[in-house]
Amino acid sequence: MGSVAQHVVGVTTGSRSYNVFVEDAISSRLGQIVREVLGPKPRRAVIIADTHLPMPLLAGVEVSLFRAGFQFDRMGIEATEANKTVRTLERVLEFLASRMHERGEPVIALGGGIVGDLAGFAAAVHRRGCPVIQCPTTLLAMVDASVGGKTGVNLEVETAGGSTLLKNAVGAFHQPHAVVIGLDTLDSLPARQFNAGLAECVKHALLGGAFGDGELMEWMEEKAKQRSGETTKQGEAPCKRGAWRASVGEASVLRELVLRSVLIKAKVVAGDEREEATSATGGRALLNLGHTFAHAIETLPGLTFRTCEGEKAGALLHGEAVGLGLLAACRVAAEMSRCEEGLSGRVAALLQAFELPVAVSGLPSAEDIVARMQHDKKVLDSVLRLVLPTAGCRAEVVENPARELVVGAVESLRDKGR
Ligand code: GLY
Repeated sequence: MGSVAQHVVGVTTGSRSYNVFVEDAISSRLGQIVREVLGPKPRRAVIIADTHLPMPLLAGVEVSLFRAGFQFDRMGIEATEANKTVRTLERVLEFLASRMHERGEPVIALGGGIVGDLAGFAAAVHRRGCPVIQCPTTLLAMVDASVGGKTGVNLEVETAGGSTLLKNAVGAFHQPHAVVIGLDTLDSLPARQFNAGLAECVKHALLGGAFGDGELMEWMEEKAKQRSGETTKQGEAPCKRGAWRASVGEASVLRELVLRSVLIKAKVVAGDEREEATSATGGRALLNLGHTFAHAIETLPGLTFRTCEGEKAGALLHGEAVGLGLLAACRVAAEMSRCEEGLSGRVAALLQAFELPVAVSGLPSAEDIVARMQHDKKVLDSVLRLVLPTAGCRAEVVENPARELVVGAVESLRDKGR
């Protein structure tokens, strides 16, 4: 089980126990933490970093490692889904091999979920496994992807309908030796990306009741309310760019949000490291709350929706799609009388406070989207399994929910005003 003490969350799994350190600045203690975790022996490290990170951030990381007695090499990764491939993995492995990277030496993954997944997978297979230190630089990766040891890459396959990108089709469970979160890395994150990460925090809040924190949802609502009070007081437009970010940007609020979210994730992972729990107990599959809907809509072209950047046309960010998926899941659950009737309204209000879309225009027919959901990799024996919220910020896996309810929930995401 996890525990919060001095900005540290413990993660205990069958294969490894480690800590998630939530620091104000990534450069302050990274080197020291890596040294404490790995001991005095390793003298070298390889940093796999997102090519778009600001130079001062990279320099801070390198100085911190240097001070702790590490020499290092750095490889940049263009962090796109199209580049999260076996070919890029091969390039990372070639880089490690060319540096004679040894088994006891760490890979430092510095970036969002794509970099963490790629670098983590490379660490899992280089010389049959070397340590990885996850240093997430997006909110989404901090509260979700960096914790729990899932690593992998996408596969592009030719099917009868053309070429299809299968997300995370190959990978490995490889728990990090530590996760080091520097909240300062969020300073350079675009507001839209930051808001997308808040959707995963809402997801954790909807699960928190079963993992020791049934109050996270109310706490987030309270913070959102305080912020809207401030905006009214100051006469600002309610949808000012990055408005909620300014509120959680207050160090103590942001730290608490990340710590509480990570603690919920840590407890889910501790109970079911390899996602082997049955539908009846839920386990790690509960983290897919909202995701079956999200996967079916996030790559759709031709959508328009409102974000903190104004009217957008194109594809949704993963977190934006997750927010919509959470809404749809709440609506199905309410129709089945599995959760409080007002839950979808509360979730919609939170998403709006976080300047995340609650409706999109340009969606294909709801029937088509539900057919796409049937292709989700969690579908077994053609049975659609949805994670649905229940009372008290808990969730459960529901097999074969009535199709018309799922279609209705998808239809409810259509922006009818445009
Ligand atoms: N992001 C889902 C999981 O870690 O299982």
